[in-house]
Amino acid sequence: MKINPIPHQQVFVIGAGMVGSTAAYTLLTREVAREIVLIDVHHELAHGHVVDMNHASAFTSGIQIRTGDYSEIRENDIIVITSGASQKSGEDRHAAAENNVKIIKEVLKKVMANGVGVYILMVTNPVDVLTYVACKESGLPSSRVFGTGTALDTARLRYMLSERMQVNPANIVAFILGEHGDSSFPAISAATVEGIPIQNYTTFKQKYIANITKEVREAGYKIVEEKKATYYGIGSTVADIVEAIINDKQKVYALSCVLNGEYGLTNLATGVPALLSNAGVKVLENYPLNDEERKALKKSSEILQANIQKLGY
Ligand code: 2OP
Repeated sequence: MKINPIPHQQVFVIGAGMVGSTAAYTLLTREVAREIVLIDVHHELAHGHVVDMNHASAFTSGIQIRTGDYSEIRENDIIVITSGASQKSGEDRHAAAENNVKIIKEVLKKVMANGVGVYILMVTNPVDVLTYVACKESGLPSSRVFGTGTALDTARLRYMLSERMQVNPANIVAFILGEHGDSSFPAISAATVEGIPIQNYTTFKQKYIANITKEVREAGYKIVEEKKATYYGIGSTVADIVEAIINDKQKVYALSCVLNGEYGLTNLATGVPALLSNAGVKVLENYPLNDEERKALKKSSEILQANIQKLGY
């Protein structure tokens, strides 16, 4: 595989709340980027995190983390957007949509002020809706604007299957697709354990799927209920995705992508298998879905489209 890294790519993390700061910290400790810039409207918060992380950077091979300004954004930099209100206990991810659209539009204006082609990784919820908004508002091609989508749900699925099946999660190829939210669904018909169809694997039981589907959908809610926010899972998801861009890994994730007819869908962004490299994201069009999974994708898409329209897009 030919690897073609872009030199001096900076990573800007916008929003220094629990998700943004954890993502920045994970990028730092995993030594994903040489230079990480943390920006927040609350400058003190960003500054406090940066000073704390500067001390952690002594244990890295010279990674720089600092506060900064939008004016420093250059061509091909990676912009991780985590700004906005997070999910509250008892609320779904769409509850904050109106408020977060306003915040994201302001952020995007500043990100795009230099008029350069960046990569935007949307993390703020409702992530699929905001990925679509970011693509429209930024004017960037859909290959450069994508969201964490169901990459975290997929990590949760693989973890939960690995626990039950006693197999390393890295050997499990299975995705959660659709909305990062209540209508997400597992695409199990094509799932494998290192090439063995998962349904034929010795430790697999069909009942795992219904239970895990529910657990994955409820995971975010349960964590928010217990400790007000989720950030380690999403922090690692962000770091892995950013690493795939920086190191041109050509790795497949379930990312929120703006669809232009793939899977028969348009006018939305949703979680689908996609190839990530330093050229951005490319939707994998032919991921095999059975009839039930196709229906689940359609139903999930209708929910997302209705929410996008409600916001005037
Ligand atoms: C999560 O699923 C709440 O979207 C956040 O962890």
